[in-house]
Amino acid sequence: MILRYTALLATLLPVTLAAQAPVRESTGFYQFLSDDPTQKPFYSDQPGVIAKNGMVASAHPAASRVGADILKAGGNAVDAAVAVQFALAVVHPSAGNLGGGGFLVLREKDGKSYSIDFREKAPGKGHADMYLDKDGNVVPGASTLGRLASGVPGSVDGMFEAHRKYGKLPWKQLLQPAIDLARNGVVQTEREARGLNAIKKDLLDLNPGTKYFIKPDGSEWNAGDLLVQKDLAGVLKRIQKKGRDGFYNGKTARKLVKDINYKGEGIISRQDLRDYHAQWRNTITEPYKNYKIITMPPPSSGGIALVQLLRATEPFPLRQWGWHSDSAIQVMIEAERRVYADRAKFLGDPDFVKVPAETLMSQSYLQKRWSDFAWDKATDSKNISGGVLPGYESLETTHFSIVDKDGNAVAVTTTLNGGYGSRVVIKGGGFFMNNEMDDFSIKPGTPNMYGLIGNKANAIAPGKRMLSSMTPTIIEKDGKLLMVVGTPGGSTIITSVYQTILNVLEHGMTMQQAVNALKFHHQWLPDLTTFEANAFSEKTIKNLQGKGYFLEQQRNTIGRMDCILVLPDGSLEGGSDPRGDDTSVGY
Ligand code: GLY
Repeated sequence: MILRYTALLATLLPVTLAAQAPVRESTGFYQFLSDDPTQKPFYSDQPGVIAKNGMVASAHPAASRVGADILKAGGNAVDAAVAVQFALAVVHPSAGNLGGGGFLVLREKDGKSYSIDFREKAPGKGHADMYLDKDGNVVPGASTLGRLASGVPGSVDGMFEAHRKYGKLPWKQLLQPAIDLARNGVVQTEREARGLNAIKKDLLDLNPGTKYFIKPDGSEWNAGDLLVQKDLAGVLKRIQKKGRDGFYNGKTARKLVKDINYKGEGIISRQDLRDYHAQWRNTITEPYKNYKIITMPPPSSGGIALVQLLRATEPFPLRQWGWHSDSAIQVMIEAERRVYADRAKFLGDPDFVKVPAETLMSQSYLQKRWSDFAWDKATDSKNISGGVLPGYESLETTHFSIVDKDGNAVAVTTTLNGGYGSRVVIKGGGFFMNNEMDDFSIKPGTPNMYGLIGNKANAIAPGKRMLSSMTPTIIEKDGKLLMVVGTPGGSTIITSVYQTILNVLEHGMTMQQAVNALKFHHQWLPDLTTFEANAFSEKTIKNLQGKGYFLEQQRNTIGRMDCILVLPDGSLEGGSDPRGDDTSVGY
């Protein structure tokens, strides 16, 4: 095994790379090699959930239960996905949504794969400098807070399309659990209560005359409180009765457009809603070693970037070096740096810009990208490319993974962008609108609110979809389903999915261990590696800093993965992230 890698390195990589030495014999099992007490492998020791017939892993226990009930009632993975998406809009309002968008990747039991792009679009009146003042300066907050920040929502049409083509149970049945949750109320978890308390001022400022998500007595939310959402139940009921028209036409559409255009603040029109249609797209389906990676194409940057990352580090003996060994971390950081520079330069909505996907993912291109790598010194991000980084996403999004009893698998990542999106709740509708317009580069070449810069490929145009990092992914081995993976986390989505996949495929972790494993992130610019507490040992930190790497321990955690692994005996292991309320429910 080691010889094979060495030979491969010698043929593909510059001499300096091949010269990097020590590898350890693989035991075939995950080994945590560090004897340094300052480094830990896992965020928690939470075990995975094992079941024989079906599994739903999502950000909220109530939503996972809804999905598992649909599977038990004879629904397929798409039916369960539709029910979970609508349930999350009720129980996890910071990211689950009606007023946002997302991506769905489906692998049918026979191996055919499909994806639905239900990403939001810029309204018809959107234009490249809509967030700039008369002097061409960015108006602070305009693309993130309030009515102008929203793209035309895609989630309802995305679910409707998925069900139209692949649903087995009646649409009506799939909406009912969400309606019940909205009408009867949802018991707040500590985390959900904290989230609503944190946005109270924005809720009051941006939604005059309404008290959405404010406790009836005005006090703080606590764990155990019941959140009843009557207006949202009404919207869900209309969607249940009329399908996509229950949202994009009629009463809901009138309410949405009236609220968005309140005092002329927003620009979404009735026509924008009528015109919105989710797109079926060919999945990115690419080999990696003896696996097949099935993932999301543009306007997600995630799929291409994930394949690039896996292939860029494929020739290195990551397994033999050991999980989070100095060498493994260094090549992963350097791969991430180069791949995010490509993301910045080349990726955007494929309906508007030509994305050179095949070249970016080719081994020959990726190996050339290592030409300026040296083991003794960090590459300087400034020397990687003259390009600029496109829109950066905030950390709030949500992902769910589903496998049904026949082996159909669905991965969905869906978002309002920032936590609770634009913080505007549609009056009479009771749902949050997205602030996805900030995922465009609101002024090419100028840092956005996250201190990052964007370029023309991702500039705003009417009807264009903003670039995303969401990376819903399915992996097969020997023609059979192996894994369903995804996470929220803005630009960290791609690196978390990459690391979680490596944790299983290279380091032999269980699904839950791979989710629990501590993560790190580099995105080219800023030239900084962020890491979760204890992910790197002090020795590793010193070693990397000595080579010129900039490192910073994250105050927060990275990712909220919800994944499923098919075990050798065919049973399913759900791995849901202990960093959130995430829960796997199987049967
Ligand atoms: N707004 C998060 C993403 O699309 O990547």
